[in-house]
Parts: sequence; structure tokens; C-alpha cells
Amino acid sequence: MIASSLPPGDSPRLVLVPATPAERLECTKLNSVAWKGPLDLESYIAREDHLLAQQLTGDGQTCWILVDGTQPAGARTILGACESYKKKALLAYAGQVEDIATHGVGSVYCRPEFRGKGYANRMIQELSVKLETWQLEEERRTRSVFSVLFSDIGKKFYAQHGWKPFPSSHIALPSLGGSDEEDGAAAGLPSARDLSAEDVKESMCSDAVFRKARESLRAASERTPHQAKIAIAPDYDHFVWHWAREEFYAEKLFPHSGPPLVKGAGEDRARVYCAWTRVFGETPEENTLYILRWIYDEPASPAQAQMTAQAMAAVLRRAQRQAHKWDMRHVEFWNPTPLMLQAVALLDPDAKVVHREKSSIASLKWDGAKQGLGNEVEWVWNEKYAWC
Ligand SMILES: CC(C)(COP(=O)(O)OP(=O)(O)OC[C@H]1O[C@@H](n2cnc3c(N)ncnc32)[C@H](O)[C@@H]1OP(=O)(O)O)[C@@H](O)C(=O)NCCC(=O)NCCS
Repeated sequence: MIASSLPPGDSPRLVLVPATPAERLECTKLNSVAWKGPLDLESYIAREDHLLAQQLTGDGQTCWILVDGTQPAGARTILGACESYKKKALLAYAGQVEDIATHGVGSVYCRPEFRGKGYANRMIQELSVKLETWQLEEERRTRSVFSVLFSDIGKKFYAQHGWKPFPSSHIALPSLGGSDEEDGAAAGLPSARDLSAEDVKESMCSDAVFRKARESLRAASERTPHQAKIAIAPDYDHFVWHWAREEFYAEKLFPHSGPPLVKGAGEDRARVYCAWTRVFGETPEENTLYILRWIYDEPASPAQAQMTAQAMAAVLRRAQRQAHKWDMRHVEFWNPTPLMLQAVALLDPDAKVVHREKSSIASLKWDGAKQGLGNEVEWVWNEKYAWC
């Protein structure tokens, strides 16, 4: 289709449909320009296929394309594309916790020569309608309660379509060479240990941990019964999905280093644990070790708070050292709690919380009001693991 014959963004001929496998491949090739980073095209396609094969979304990943509905499948011009990922989620309302399904949205893309014609606007408008019922036929709730995305184009565009910005802050610490023994600052901290994938599973994803998390959600919901609370289920599959990505990059970029086996750190006495992933950017400057999720008990006394903050600081120190080993410049984690800030202050009193305005804006579309779940919603565990 030549540019002059393109339909306008509000044309009734435009439809949003799931892509065929060949069209999905075409989308990957098109958006590679924006997202392949340090990979070559072939490796980028292989990365996308590798992620598609992960357990996290199973058959629940859909590549959507905006096309002229009068063109036949197989010969349609892709005017815009995006993906949705069905995920497990939790809903707490009026003191009850429910397992529900949700969708994450990502890979929103329009090729440069078709931009500025309203295709992204139309695509997201259509998607918002599709996701109200998409893949929910077999769920107890057959209509969407909420969906999420992480905007890299600021806070305005997606908000117009219902995905409102939620807390999107982070704190970053530099990577650090050396060892705990040489480090005077770390000397006063308890000793944390590295976590393997199996350790993360055991300490952060056990039935007991999930029961406790669910109970804390229920108790919070009882305290504010008319404010719905939602969370993306922080299950092991999420971590594995992020690790599949980091391992893919590590193999391509550091073929002689072996896979990154240290997947987090923990301090057993205070029961503070975190899982992380390494994100390789276009340049090493952008390489960042992201903490995907924290687990810790809410302290019941100032003395316990002190102990927990120290354990967190020790865990963060391990993250800084691990980042250094993998040529990462920073350790970053999202939406720090006051306790985490206390921990950071033990390591770097000058570290500041950054409130993002443009990239990775956690955005949530709340459909619960139509289902009698009120107008207000809190996003619980709004951490990096939920990113897609
Ligand atoms: C973002 C993108 C999909 C927009 O496509 P498009 O077809 O040009 O968008 P539209 O013509 O429908 O314009 C949609 C709106 O988004 C705004 N917009 C477009 N690109 C933007 C950007 N980089 N930052 C902020 N707003 C942007 C437009 O100004 C327009 O606003 P309006 O509705 O108030 O007029 C396209 O620029 C793209 O593919 N960029 C590279 C990949 C990317 O960044 N994707 C988004 C990931 S969250």
C-alpha cells in the first residue's frame, strides 16, 4: 500500500485483528529498528520467539495488527501493531481476595513512514474494547477487571484511552567492584547470601509465601473495603520470563562467561529476599540490574525496622557487586517503600528517588467500576516483575 492511498486513522475500514504467524514475524522485523538494542536482526527475532515460548503467558500472548479490513489475510498492510499478554492477577475487594485474569499490553509500534496519521490512537482505542472480553471466556469473570501497560511515551497518550499513570518512581545505586570484606561501609551490615533460581523459588515463591501475601492483601482490603486492590500475581513464571531474556542476551554478548546464575540475594535472619534480572541496553551505559521484587515482613517495632533495613542494605550491596560483575552500571528498583529508603540511606545518603515522567510509566486501566467494584483502585506490588 503506498502512503498516498493509506486510509485515515478514523476510517471505518480499519480493524484490529490477531496477526497470523507470518504477520507476527513481519511485525518483529518492523519494530526491530526500535527495540533490537545490541542484537542483530536474526538474534532479535530469536529472542522474541524464545520469550513467546515461555510459560508466563502460555497461549495467552497475542500479536495484534491494525489493518484495512478489506485486504485479504496474508496480503494486508500492517498499519500498527501491539501485543497483549494474559496473566494471572489478584483482586481484593471488601475483605475478599479473588484470583482473576488480566492483560499486559506492550510492543506498541507504528512504522516511521506511517506515523502521525492517527493509527496508534485508533489501535489503542480498538484494543481497549477487545481486551474487555479477550481470552476471558473460561474465567469466572468474563469481563476485564483491569489491564496494565508501561508507557515509554509519557503520561498523556495512553491516559486518553483509559490507562492512567500510577506510581512510577525508582531509586538507582551504582554498581560496585570489590568484596564485602574490603568494604568498610558494608562491615556493619549483616551478611546476605546470593540466591540461585531454585533459592528464589523456595524463598519467594513457596505456597507459604503466597498464602502470607494473600493474607496481607485481604487484611488491607478489610481496612479499606471500598477501595479495590489489584496485583499482578508475582509468581515464579514471571521471574523465569525475565531470566529467559537476560540469559538470551548473556549468551549472545558474553558467550564465554556462562549463564548468569545469581538471580537475587537474601538475608535469612530478617527474612529479606529479592530477585533481580540484568537488562542489557543499547550501550553498556544503559545496562541495569533491576530488582524485580522484594519480599520482607512488615516490621512490628522500631528495632525490627532497623534490622530489616540493614538486611535490605546488605542485599542491595550484593546486587551492586553482581551488577559490576556483569558490566551493569546501575542497580535499580521501582517504587521504594520508606523502609527501602532507610536501607538505601545506609549505603548512599545522597541517593534520590526519581519520579519518571516519560519512560516505563506504570499505567492501569480500571474496568472494575462497571462491575460494582467502585471507582478507586490501588495497584499493590507495583514492582518491576510486572513489566512486560
Ligand atoms: C508511539 C507511536 C506508536 C505513535 O504512532 P503514531 O501512529 O504516530 O501515533 P498517532 O498518529 O496515532 O498519534 C497518537 C498520539 O500520540 C502522540 N505521540 C506520538 N509519538 C509520541 C511520542 N514519542 N511521545 C509522546 N507522544 C507521542 C501523538 O502526538 C498523538 O497525540 P494526540 O492524540 O494528542 O494528537 C510511534 O511513534 C512509534 O511506533 N514509536 C516507536 C515505538 C514506541 O515508542 N512505542 C511506544 C511504546 S510505549
